[in-house]
Amino acid sequence: MAQRFIGIANDAEERLINVRIGSLQDAFVSFASDKIDDSVYLNNQIQNIIKTNETIKSFKVIVKKTIIDPNLGTIPNSYVIIASNNLEEVDTVDNQAPFLYTLAGSDPSNSLTMPFSENGERLFQTARAITDKMGNVVGVVMTTQTLSLADMAIQSSITRSRILLFVVIILILLLFLRHSKIIDYMDLYKKLKEVNQLKDDFISMASHELRTPLTIIRGYAEFAIGAPELSPQTKDYISKIDISSKDLDALISDMLDVSRIEQGRMSFKLEKINPLDIIEGVVTSLVLPAKEKGLSISFDKTKIEDSQYINVDKDRLKQALVNLIGNAVKYTNKGEIIVRQYKEKERLYIRVSDTGLGMTEEERAKLFEKFYRIRTKETEEIRGTGLGLWITAKIIKEMNGNVSVESIKGIGSHFIISFPIVA
Ligand SMILES: Nc1ncnc2c1ncn2[C@@H]1O[C@H](COP(=O)(O)OP(=O)(O)O)[C@@H](O)[C@H]1O
Ligand SMILES: [Mg+2]
Repeated sequence: MAQRFIGIANDAEERLINVRIGSLQDAFVSFASDKIDDSVYLNNQIQNIIKTNETIKSFKVIVKKTIIDPNLGTIPNSYVIIASNNLEEVDTVDNQAPFLYTLAGSDPSNSLTMPFSENGERLFQTARAITDKMGNVVGVVMTTQTLSLADMAIQSSITRSRILLFVVIILILLLFLRHSKIIDYMDLYKKLKEVNQLKDDFISMASHELRTPLTIIRGYAEFAIGAPELSPQTKDYISKIDISSKDLDALISDMLDVSRIEQGRMSFKLEKINPLDIIEGVVTSLVLPAKEKGLSISFDKTKIEDSQYINVDKDRLKQALVNLIGNAVKYTNKGEIIVRQYKEKERLYIRVSDTGLGMTEEERAKLFEKFYRIRTKETEEIRGTGLGLWITAKIIKEMNGNVSVESIKGIGSHFIISFPIVA
């Protein structure tokens, strides 16, 4: 396509050069017949023309006349240059002129052009007859024009088009590469999704299948521990079975919740409730474990103004609170746990504060990651899965709530959840 355009441009350029030289010669011959004997005048005119037309290499006027050569004597019908841009050839005989002279003479009203090339340079030779008032040919103007300027311009266009074409091809190649990479990624993504689904299915199946035998173990352990005439040693063994199976049960519950959340299978029955009783219930259930550690735990209701309602799933809210308040008891060795409920900017806040281990900024940043547990000397003996907070955060988000943490290492932590109050 580029080549075609260049061809068209080339033709147009050549035609333009011809038209220009044609009109130049037109103008020239209009006065040249009257001044055919005034070679000084003609030479001046030629110099002016040459100055403003840089593509003209030669511009001369030739007349046919009889000359007297010192050696050869009288020679009739000689083609003598009477004016030229090259002043040195004035008054000399032009041996190449006869052909063009005759040609121009045969069609005096037009300029005749002959293309030719010299040392690789393309040239146009144009001849136009000069006629007197009677229509007789009295001389001929001959010009030689170079096409090298036009050729150079066209050559640079060709080079530019080639570069452009090259760039376009490279771009297409790059696009193609990118496209095939995207297809690869799509394949990979599909496989990843399949593997992920497989993993989810496996966890969910394994957890369910584990639960049945575990329930049986727990049942028998409970049953056995109540049996009379057991040695203290055996009692200790059985209570260890009981504790470990409770841990395992908690782990399975968490894993099942994780798989439910990840597969979008966790159901939420949102309803308008006053969370007061739920908080109270969770706090009460943790009084004994707290007491065993020598901690005090309380529900501070002094900031509650009136009945406030939020739109949540009762059981899920309870699950979140059991984990948050349970954590407060778990990760506190001395002091107290206080749960507060208050209202701020149309939101209901539940704040669980403890005087426990606390955490650093880096630890806090990872707190809600799956399986993350802070590993220090103090937490070494504390059992857990590292899934509780991940589940809690997901549950609260699902119920349009928000969860945040404020904590100082060695001083204590505040876990704050909030929900929009509904009328
Ligand atoms: N109130 C708290 N005080 C200090 N550390 C806490 C508290 N709550 C949670 N953490 C830290 O966050 C980790 C993740 O908690 P969680 O997801 O509930 O898992 P788990 O309790 O099973 O370890 C815990 O292991 C503990 O290191
Ligand atoms: Mg926990």
